[in-house]
Amino acid sequence: MLKNIVILTGAGISAESGIPVFRSETGLWENHNVDDVATPEGYERDPDLVRNFYNTLRSNLKKVEPNPAHKALAKLEENWKNGTVTVITQNIDDLHERAGSKNILHMHGELLKQSCYVLHGGCGDVFEIHTDQKPTDCCPHCGKMGTLRPHIVWFGEMPLYMDEIAQILSEGDLFISIGTSGVVYPAAGFVSTAHRYNIPTVEFNLEPSATKGFFDYGIYGKAGTTLPKFVDRLLECNGDLNQLF
Ligand code: APR
Repeated sequence: MLKNIVILTGAGISAESGIPVFRSETGLWENHNVDDVATPEGYERDPDLVRNFYNTLRSNLKKVEPNPAHKALAKLEENWKNGTVTVITQNIDDLHERAGSKNILHMHGELLKQSCYVLHGGCGDVFEIHTDQKPTDCCPHCGKMGTLRPHIVWFGEMPLYMDEIAQILSEGDLFISIGTSGVVYPAAGFVSTAHRYNIPTVEFNLEPSATKGFFDYGIYGKAGTTLPKFVDRLLECNGDLNQLF
């Protein structure tokens, strides 16, 4: 019987909420060069620019709401009684939480958290932040000033929760990927891991992703439309995939 459902989400699930995806045709992220705002080197070069960039993204969270795709995953988690539903997200927004999902791993960090940067002499602790981060802020734990940074995994840094994710993938019975281009590893490699465990894999996207070859099924269209229907059918047939595909 299908028990544990593992879900990977990417920027595409939040697109219909109004948060732009990463890989636009311009190669820019929110009008910025990714090297400037999403690498440790960019932060060393211009911490004010990086801090202000994430302050703006954090503040913009107030202007967006979860869409039907986020809500469908929360509904699945709430109503799935055969095992676990885990959302592994590459997104740094809080739309899964606000939709009602509880079992979420933010492998690329969170806009609503900050950490005390070990490489700047900080203690490494992680704290919630709902306002703007300022260079004069002090760490609530070690008390140092100027060591707090956005709790975002930048390019070149190690994603979070990798041990837990490996365990979750090994115990999964169905792997679902939603709204991710499949070009950023290690997340892009989860489907091949699932494939090796011989569990069914399905992707939801506007178009086939870079890892489409590893997926058993592809459901193409806006996730806000396709996912709620899929979740309803998955719940109705109690995970009997023969009835689903
Ligand atoms: N429904 C489903 N899929 C969608 C939708 C939608 N409404 N809108 C866009 N998509 C798909 C796009 O077709 C694309 O494949 O979502 C994907 C978004 O891809 P990316 O912008 O590359 O985002 P993602 O895969 O999450 O990026 C991974 O890269 O920049 C880093 O750390 C950042 O977490 C991010 C990682």
